[in-house]
Amino acid sequence: MRKTIVAGNWKMNKTPKEALELIETLKPLVAGNDKTEVVFCPPFVDLLLAVEATKGTNIKIGAQNMYCAESGAYTGEVSPAMVKECGCEYVILGHSERRAYFGETNELVNAKVKKAFEHGLTPIICVGEKLEEREQGITIDLVRMQVKIALKDVDPENVKKAVIAYEPIWAIGTGKTATSVQAEEVCCAIRQVVAEVFGQEVADEIRVQYGGSVNAGNAAELFAMPNIDGGLVGGASLKADFAKIVNYD
Ligand code: 13P
Repeated sequence: MRKTIVAGNWKMNKTPKEALELIETLKPLVAGNDKTEVVFCPPFVDLLLAVEATKGTNIKIGAQNMYCAESGAYTGEVSPAMVKECGCEYVILGHSERRAYFGETNELVNAKVKKAFEHGLTPIICVGEKLEEREQGITIDLVRMQVKIALKDVDPENVKKAVIAYEPIWAIGTGKTATSVQAEEVCCAIRQVVAEVFGQEVADEIRVQYGGSVNAGNAAELFAMPNIDGGLVGGASLKADFAKIVNYD
């Protein structure tokens, strides 16, 4: 039985002081929910205090990115060990904004996924199509390829633990959510490709989230779909309303 996972991707929002305020607002509102795993992913500079502020609560902390080398001359980057030592359990990898603005390729995402597991971090791997790709009818082909490359040469026991977030790019920050049927179709295809490569047992365990304009009004319908195990939430994770998404039913 897969546990639903709702993660807030804060993107480039919240200074340390603001992060603390948001955490203090949300802490009591999500407390006591043991049905859903709750993850906050603030910017790097907020991670240490976010871990400290959520100690002893049901909130877990994740980073939004990391580099795939151990250490060295990579100005501006953050290593897996740094993220781990901050107290993070999760790391978002391959977000479409990283792919679009910072040139991340499927191969780089794969290298990061493997590094994350080496360091005991659980990756939340983002995949998803652009509007023109949906219109060309290649959504499923494209997402299958993204998933296959991201998970290439990953140990099946680790694949079981991974989270894949299906985020159609046209639905991110646009207020235009995929319908639950559209989201389910792709999340189901993701589980299918995992089954083809790693076997049904692994596919039954891996969690697949939907992301893209998830809000308090649409979360319950999306998360009720058989292959959708929760959500990766952007804009709505920055407000008290995020608790309504966590406590969706
Ligand atoms: P929005 O929820 O703001 O559409 O962002 C989704 C997202 O990109 C989460 O990673």
